[in-house]
Amino acid sequence: MRHVTMRRAAAVLLALAASSPALTGCAGPAAGTAAQLVGVAMPTTTSARWIADGKNVSAQLRALGHSVDLEYAENDVSKQISQIETMIHDGADVLIIAAIDGSKLKGALADAAAAKIPVIAYDRLIRDSPDVDYYATFDNARVGLQQATTLLQGLGVLAPSGEPTGATGPFAVELFAGSPDDNNATVFYDNAMSVLTPYLDSGVLVVPSGQTDFATIATKDWSGDVAATRMATLLPAYDGTGLRLAGILSPYDGISIALLKATSGIGYGTATQPWPIVTGQDAEVASVQSIMADEQYATVYKDTRQLAEVAVSMVEAVLNGDEPRTNDVTSYDNGVVIVPAYLLTPQVVRKNNYEQVLVDSGYYTKEDLG
Ligand code: BGC
Repeated sequence: MRHVTMRRAAAVLLALAASSPALTGCAGPAAGTAAQLVGVAMPTTTSARWIADGKNVSAQLRALGHSVDLEYAENDVSKQISQIETMIHDGADVLIIAAIDGSKLKGALADAAAAKIPVIAYDRLIRDSPDVDYYATFDNARVGLQQATTLLQGLGVLAPSGEPTGATGPFAVELFAGSPDDNNATVFYDNAMSVLTPYLDSGVLVVPSGQTDFATIATKDWSGDVAATRMATLLPAYDGTGLRLAGILSPYDGISIALLKATSGIGYGTATQPWPIVTGQDAEVASVQSIMADEQYATVYKDTRQLAEVAVSMVEAVLNGDEPRTNDVTSYDNGVVIVPAYLLTPQVVRKNNYEQVLVDSGYYTKEDLG
C-alpha cells in the first residue's frame, strides 16, 4: 500500500521511542503505536446508528490513547468535505469516513493522499477515488438478501426455513430503496431484487404502482419523510383493484417507521386491515419496539460495536505500518481501485429472537426497549 513504507519507517521510530525508559509505564496506546490524531467523519445524527458508531469508534480510539476529532455533517455534503479538509489541515494521522455522497469526496481524498494520510471508508464505500486504503463494513450483499427473504417469509411465500411454501398470492408489495448517493443502497437493492424478481415474474408478487427500478424507488438521504411522501402517491394505484398492501421492502428502520405510520393513516394496523409486512435495517430502538408490538416485521441488525472494532484495528495496523486484516479483496471496486475490505455478518432480528440477539449481547438493555 502507498502509505506503508512511510508508516513502516514511522513504526521503527515509534518502537525506538517506546523502548525509551522515559516512556515506559505510561498509560496509552498499544506497544509500537504512539498517540495519534484520528479524524472521524460521520454522516448524520438523525439516525441512532450513526450516533452509536461515532461513540463506539471514539471510545475505542481514546482507550488506545489516541485523540479523536469526531464530526457529523447532517447529510450536508459540502459540510462533510469541509470537515475532512479541516481534519487534514489539523494534522490528522488517519481518517475514518462514513461518506454522505460516496462520489463527492475525490478532491478531499486527494488532499489526504498528498498529506500521506491513510483513509478508511467506514460502512459506506467511497467511490471514484484511488485514495481509499481500506473499507470496514458489513456484508452489504447479504443485507439485501436478508431484507428480501424476510419480506417473503413475512408474507408466507417462504417458510422460516427459507423453503418456498407454494403460496401463490398475488401479494401486493411496494419497494423502497436507500439514498442514491450511497453505494450501499444499490448493493442492498440489487441483492434484494435478485431474490424478489422470480416472484415478480411469476406473479406471486405484484407491485401495483409499477415502480420497481432503483432510480424511481430510491429515497434521498434515507429520509422517512421523503419515503412517506412517495408512499402517498402510490396508493391511488390500489383503488378499485381489491388489492391490499401486503408488504413493503424497506431498506432502513427510519424509513420503515415512517411508512408504518403512513399506512396506519390510511387504515392499516387493524383486525380487518392488518399491517403490511415491513422490513428494515439497523435494529434501531423504535423499530425493535415496533417489532415487539407486532407492527414492523423484521430488521437487519448490524453490531456497530464490531464495526468500530474493525475500523479501529485498521487504524492501529496502518499506524504500525502493518497490513490491516481484510476478508474480501474482490467485491468493492470503487470505479478506480478495488478497496480491500473487512466484511462483518449482519443478522436478521424479529420478534422471536430480539431478546437473545440484542439484549443478551448487551447491545440494548431491557430498559432501552421498555
Ligand atoms: C447503512 C445502513 C443505514 C443507512 C441509513 C447505510 O449506508 O449501511 O446501515 O441504515 O445507511 O443511514
